Amino acid sequence: MSFTVAIDGPAAAGKGTVSKAVAAHFGFAHLDTGLLYRAVGRRVLEGAAPVAAARALRAEDLEGELRTPEVAQEASRVAVIPEVRAALVDFQRAFATRAGGAVLDGRDIGTVICPEAPAKLFVTASPEVRAERRYLELTAKGLEVTREEVLADVKERDARDSERATAPLKPAGDAVVIDTSEMSIDEAVAAAIAAIEEKRGEG
Ligand code: DC
Repeated sequence: MSFTVAIDGPAAAGKGTVSKAVAAHFGFAHLDTGLLYRAVGRRVLEGAAPVAAARALRAEDLEGELRTPEVAQEASRVAVIPEVRAALVDFQRAFATRAGGAVLDGRDIGTVICPEAPAKLFVTASPEVRAERRYLELTAKGLEVTREEVLADVKERDARDSERATAPLKPAGDAVVIDTSEMSIDEAVAAAIAAIEEKRGEG
């Protein structure tokens, strides 16, 4: 039986951590859809054309380092192009309906990719809290960035992701909003699991 959990939200809100924990808890497969856009963005930084890169995306394009600020910015830029988004739809929908359950996290999962998903979460936090988390993550990896740069980067991506015409970042009408600004990871995961349990009970 398939059961889809759609988890959307802005950059560095804790979506990835919550999604992984939720998938492990329920024994569901997990797809971080941001990686698809990042992989296209990286190909574009290497000189490919965005739409062609999205149409030709392969599993091996998801390997290697995709979590750099440059790749994130390029991902957000290619994600504005409707044909790029269209090229990635089938793969995401097929993943969502696989037997055994699936968690997909991204920006438009509850609104566009899986509007029928029984459980939809919107995981968010203030830009300052998200920038601080991302700053700690990047410096822990040895990248030389300042807090100001990371905050500016987060705000720029937020604006581009939520103001684009196609599939902008926004909560689905029936999404449960979880603001993690003042939550620990354990609290955020517990809130997500409780919300999903409730939807499972209704199914
Ligand atoms: O979640 P992330 O930071 O890895 O995503 C990188 C960029 O990809 C993000 O700024 C916008 C885009 N994206 C999108 O438009 N739709 C998705 N479902 C996932 C990511």
